[in-house]
Amino acid sequence: MHAFDTVGSTNDEAKSLARAGAPHGTLVTARIQESGRGRRGRSWSSPEGNLFLSAVLRPEAPAARAAQLSFAAAVALAECLGAFLPVGITIAAKWPNDVLLEGAKVAGILLEAESGDGQGGWVVLGVGVNCRHHPEDAPYPATSLAAHGAVSPVPGLVLRAFVDRLDHWIVRWTREGFEPVRRAWLGWAVGIGGPVTVRLDRETLEGRFADLDTDGALLLELPGGVRRRIHAGDVHFGTGVGGS
Ligand code: BTN
Repeated sequence: MHAFDTVGSTNDEAKSLARAGAPHGTLVTARIQESGRGRRGRSWSSPEGNLFLSAVLRPEAPAARAAQLSFAAAVALAECLGAFLPVGITIAAKWPNDVLLEGAKVAGILLEAESGDGQGGWVVLGVGVNCRHHPEDAPYPATSLAAHGAVSPVPGLVLRAFVDRLDHWIVRWTREGFEPVRRAWLGWAVGIGGPVTVRLDRETLEGRFADLDTDGALLLELPGGVRRRIHAGDVHFGTGVGGS
């Protein structure tokens, strides 16, 4: 494990280590990130007191399938966070890779891969958990474990609990494929079957969140019944503006 004090981004450190041949399971953490990254080019608020973790993974699978590991990570997070929270706090997974507490984002996942063919390739799985702090200016409702009454939201403890569950789900994914991960994710997911607005780079679509496809795509049912597979985008539940 590589535990840094201050870095730009643990994902960048993990990518350098992966390029230099770091083995599957290499972990990188930092106390503070100075340029933490989120999905879709956003920054990730990274003050001391939160968890910033990146794992080098070398799955024996093509890069396209490796993207499913972010769902394994979301399930692992959803499963482990309850132990830090008072009973009754609703934990949920939001497509594609967010974990919510009472509808607000507490954790995010950023999966980055190097090569297209996956042969000898690697992915870096980056996870940020708002343990003590959350941004007030995020473009979505955000929260932290502390804001929901967590007793000891210590990054190191969350890290251990998460890595334990992640290991479990990566082993299952390797042996059994995506289906058990998909089913577990659906068990935590918000919004399935209901109205959803999907913001893509160039268009906004409204429809019904019909299902999670067998490769992790969001199956969007448009008015008229046509289904469209969405691989990346921001989703908002309900129609029009609003939602989480
Ligand atoms: C998102 O929800 O947009 C993804 C957030 C991912 C943040 C984590 S923190 C550790 C790792 N290093 C980064 O720069 N980003 C990820």
